[in-house]
Amino acid sequence: MKHFLSVKDAVDVQALVKEALLYKKTPYADKHIGKNRTMGLLFFNSSLRTRLSTQRAAQNLGLELIVMNVSQDGWGLEFAEGAIMNGNKAEHIKEAAPVIGQYCDIVGIRSFPSLTDREDDYNETVINQFVKYTGRPIVSLESATRHPLQSLADLITIEELKPKPRPKVVLTWAPHVKALPQAVPNSFAEWMNAADVDFVITHPKGYELAPEFVGDAKVTYNQEEAFADADFIYAKNWSSYQDYGKILNQDPAWMVTMDKMKLTNNAKFMHCLPVRRNVVVEDAVLDSPHSVVVQQAGNRIWAAQVVIKQLLLKIIREESPYLF
Ligand code: CP
Repeated sequence: MKHFLSVKDAVDVQALVKEALLYKKTPYADKHIGKNRTMGLLFFNSSLRTRLSTQRAAQNLGLELIVMNVSQDGWGLEFAEGAIMNGNKAEHIKEAAPVIGQYCDIVGIRSFPSLTDREDDYNETVINQFVKYTGRPIVSLESATRHPLQSLADLITIEELKPKPRPKVVLTWAPHVKALPQAVPNSFAEWMNAADVDFVITHPKGYELAPEFVGDAKVTYNQEEAFADADFIYAKNWSSYQDYGKILNQDPAWMVTMDKMKLTNNAKFMHCLPVRRNVVVEDAVLDSPHSVVVQQAGNRIWAAQVVIKQLLLKIIREESPYLF
């Protein structure tokens, strides 16, 4: 693994899940491998889970950490090639990224999409320039179009809780007051398409995800039909991909309720968090045994730990090939 930006960077998804579950049992098994190495975590946007779980994962591997809220504490960053920098952006990515690479052995980046320029967002302009100029392995802590550490944790959770070898997993759109990125549903779809699950996506018309993420999933506009016999319900709001970044629908009838959970095969309720109670999902579901959102968030540690370990092993192999 050279970088961790999407499911394509996971050579063997099942092996990653298996190894992550081993870390859950023995978190300090590889406490030595990050010794005298540093991971930088750079946040352009807010975070609770990603920030804390990735720190915990890095600490379990013996790494030192540098954490920075770039948009609050750093200089305004320019990403455009050939920009005349006479505005409010004081530093270009061409200097900032390699400088960060001088201080860190591995770099994690969180950067949300603009939701105004689809081409720019889907070209992953921000994270790809960190890949290009940092000279270090880059871990996506959620980019414009994907959240792979979240999706790996989701898959770990499904593996732990699945009631049958090939469970039915439903990704359902749910209402929200704000226009949110497509990163979590895109990524979840990409990882579910790589897993052995019966995968269904349900959303109102106009919320179709980009075809490259939908893949082989069954798509239906009928939420109740989708919920029938489901083993996992994964709720998430996203803004429109077609009418890019727009809110087309806030119909509360799409909220996940206990009545809808009764249509399922006693399904587990999943959400990446943070979640707006009684907008996305009603209290009765979140406060019931259906909800596994805390366990799911806990698994973010093991997802991050297995990814950081893979990147560390590559660094160690390149530095000391005689060891292998
Ligand atoms: N799910 C998730 O990424 O949470 P945070 O935004 O709090 O990191």
